[in-house]
Amino acid sequence: MLSSLRLVALAALAVSLAEGVTIVSPASKAITDTLGSPLDTNGTHTDADTIVSTVSEVNQKSGATGDAPPNLPPAPVSVTAVDGTLTNQTVDAVTGNTRRDLIQRSASDYEQLFDGTGTGPYDRDASIEGTAYLTYTVVDNSTYNIGQCLDFCDRVQGCVFANLYYEFNNELLDFVFSEKSNLKCAVYADIHTAAEKTNAGGQQSEQPPAGLTYIQQSTGWGAKSLVDPATPDGYDLVFGPTNGANNAPGYMGFAFLDRYDVQACADLCNTRGADGQGGGCAYFNIWRAVVNGIPTTYTCSMYYLVADKSTAVNSGQGDLLVTLSRGYARKNVLPDGGFEGYNCVGDQSFCFTSGYANWKGLSTGILDATVFHYVPYAHTGHSVGLLGSADATDALPGTLTPAAPLQTVAGKQYSIQFFLNSDFSGPDSQKNAFVELHWNNQIVDTIKPGFTHWKFFQYTVTANGNDILQFHGGKAPAWNFIDDVKVYLA
Ligand SMILES: *[C@@H]1O[C@H](CO)[C@@H](O)[C@H](O)[C@H]1NC(C)=O
Ligand SMILES: *[C@@H]1O[C@H](CO)[C@@H](O)[C@H](O)[C@H]1NC(C)=O
Ligand SMILES: *[C@@H]1O[C@H](CO)[C@@H](O)[C@H](O)[C@H]1NC(C)=O
Repeated sequence: MLSSLRLVALAALAVSLAEGVTIVSPASKAITDTLGSPLDTNGTHTDADTIVSTVSEVNQKSGATGDAPPNLPPAPVSVTAVDGTLTNQTVDAVTGNTRRDLIQRSASDYEQLFDGTGTGPYDRDASIEGTAYLTYTVVDNSTYNIGQCLDFCDRVQGCVFANLYYEFNNELLDFVFSEKSNLKCAVYADIHTAAEKTNAGGQQSEQPPAGLTYIQQSTGWGAKSLVDPATPDGYDLVFGPTNGANNAPGYMGFAFLDRYDVQACADLCNTRGADGQGGGCAYFNIWRAVVNGIPTTYTCSMYYLVADKSTAVNSGQGDLLVTLSRGYARKNVLPDGGFEGYNCVGDQSFCFTSGYANWKGLSTGILDATVFHYVPYAHTGHSVGLLGSADATDALPGTLTPAAPLQTVAGKQYSIQFFLNSDFSGPDSQKNAFVELHWNNQIVDTIKPGFTHWKFFQYTVTANGNDILQFHGGKAPAWNFIDDVKVYLA
């Protein structure tokens, strides 16, 4: 059987598929009708309409109202919508993570952004209700204590704005809290304007004859330079900040955050369920929605394809403006996980090799692990890895491995993701297909794909540093193609 396969392979440089039963090898440049179609990204662009309509539904405004005592740590970052459905969950609850590295910040310079009223008997003002509220303190009210308020902002992670105001007739401030001060300092992770002074008090907090609560001298203070967010571990900043959101293919959906938190968006991308066609999240675009001049929400859009500034062209619609848009790509530890570094000589469209600069194919027999440059075989791009004797000489397995050990960080967890195809020879011949995933010479999994078109797989492993990744398998004519291999920090 094998020798007749070999004859077919050797005899035919271009084998046309005869009706029925002829088995051809990958080396014979087959165009088979079974080979699952490559990735089709038609119709996978950003769904800006759903994002915009969800912006109009969400309400993330808040301030130092309610009964909370001063000096509480800010609430954890929350998700306020997922794919068009409003929600109210912490990012940690959504991602199952608890790691949120706190970054120490240095003192900022502030400028006054707006004035307050005086403190005469008839002066009435209002405090800010805005997005990205963090927490508040009360400061010593023997003077209008701007310094203490801005020092507080400096100590709160993410603070870039403070609203300082007197609140009168509040029982908690006057009689309950130990500070005995009515000078409130509410801090935010976004800048706000006087247009957002919407809380004028008006509650009956103390027993009459005390009047309703009211506000005086409400001023706003913003950090002069907005801190550039730290790039999350495992990512590269691709562009930004600009005023354009991506309109790009490979879109997987979005979440709204209650503040502009790049790490939270990275956590959402890392834990986003994979797209069956396109794979895991590889890129995110975070931006601020400003509606009629007022910050309204913070969008985190996720993609399985890496986008860049060239598609960051959506500046908003109607009253909604896109601001502070940044794109981040997940770093693939593999330099050439898509085998795209392998090219034919000249303008030929078909060639194969048992290895090149980025990948090695190790054979027990003949051509048991190879790399093909041939668009019809690839999941994306023009090249793809193959396990199983490329010209059907033998039924022995081969091993594909990156040419160099992976530059990983010992002790960290990594997510190995790839696409596997097991349909080349049709249902009968692919029955016994197998592929083992090896990590440092240990079998992570033995996949028995049977007959399947391109299918996505992912595994989590722990790195030792200089790790060895291997795909071992193939059993001609049960050939297996492998493409778009990613090794991401988990
Ligand atoms: C994309 O899909 C649309 C509608 O399904 C179709 O009309 C169009 O021809 C497709 N374009 C490509 C390039 O496949
Ligand atoms: C979200 O839930 C928290 C805790 O239950 C609550 O304090 C907060 O007001 C809620 N936010 C919204 C926008 O519903
Ligand atoms: C400071 O705040 C306390 C508690 O609200 C209040 O009783 C007092 O009158 C305030 N003092 C000044 C100077 O405003």
